[in-house]
Amino acid sequence: MYSRIAGTGSYLPEKIVTNADLEKLIDTTDEWIRSRSGIEQRHMAAPEETTSTMSIEAAKRAMEAAGVTADEIDFIVVGTTTPDLVFPNVATFVQAALGIHDTPALSVETACSGFMYALSIADKYIRLGEAKCALVIGADCLTRIMDWSNRSTCVLFGDGAGAVVLKPSEEPGILTTIISADGQYRDLLYYPFGVSYGFDQLRAGAPAGLTMKGNEVFKVAVNTLSRLVDQTLAKAGLERSDVDWLVPHQANLRIIMAAAKKLALPMEQVVVTVRQQGNTSAASVPLALDCAVRDGRIQRGQTLLLEAFGGGFTWGSALIRY
Ligand code: COA
Repeated sequence: MYSRIAGTGSYLPEKIVTNADLEKLIDTTDEWIRSRSGIEQRHMAAPEETTSTMSIEAAKRAMEAAGVTADEIDFIVVGTTTPDLVFPNVATFVQAALGIHDTPALSVETACSGFMYALSIADKYIRLGEAKCALVIGADCLTRIMDWSNRSTCVLFGDGAGAVVLKPSEEPGILTTIISADGQYRDLLYYPFGVSYGFDQLRAGAPAGLTMKGNEVFKVAVNTLSRLVDQTLAKAGLERSDVDWLVPHQANLRIIMAAAKKLALPMEQVVVTVRQQGNTSAASVPLALDCAVRDGRIQRGQTLLLEAFGGGFTWGSALIRY
């Protein structure tokens, strides 16, 4: 038994912030942002929008594409770094908004690789016969946790959500997934305050923003993703030439190009959304997937390699016969 993607959906907030907009806010240039990251613009959630409202929209679109109704969904998992609340978790908000009752609903917090972790978990539930119709979401609202005076980080991130519906299938399907982490790198990319640590300072109004040593993250990301590509292909018994599409995490165009080079894939076979969306964290892979499915590039029967890397560090991949 395999799990198979029955439909995809995504949501991007209406508001667009261009590099030119950021030039007015901080000491930066369009040229610097484009040349270092590839990013030209990003979407920003409106004040009333949250990770869960974006998740709900993406979920509805994925369910419509899959032709499933709310009463068929029996498992909900959301990868996110920026939940609406400390608790209840975002998946329960999605569950309530869609009128679903009495199903598992959980969130995984593995930063930018949250969707890959969520997909891997849902895949196991389907394969074991414990779920028949899983809603898997990656959603983040990272613009909310930026220090908007820190030009090294605030230019890189955006908001959005992406979703897939997974159903059982005798044909593949998700061929394999890998998820992994190495906690020794926590100081290279983190948010400085949480609940059991620093909450009192946050309440007292201490300034806080996502903190990142960009070029050190860059090096570990490129090396890890390069290794991950090999491991994923080996686990599924496939060759580089079997991959039709690379659907990578969209953190930086240069990291994406390094992964494509490792696969010997021309950039025409790589889904790139980072220019228009920036780094949407856990949302970036399902957003890219939905984009290329809806515009007709990704076709049924093709082989896709999805991968992501994020704070922790955490990383994950999936090799999929779409
Ligand atoms: N505009 C203009 N200059 C900027 C700037 C901005 N927005 N942000 C930083 N700079 C400056 C720095 O101050 C530094 O100046 P200095 O040399 O005078 O000190 C210079 O640009 C170079 O900074 P550096 O951080 O070395 O640049 P870089 O080439 O490594 O590119 C990143 C920076 C963040 C784009 C790049 O390292 C990156 O993408 N890293 C990976 C990030 C990532 O993937 N994170 C998410 C993982 S999920």
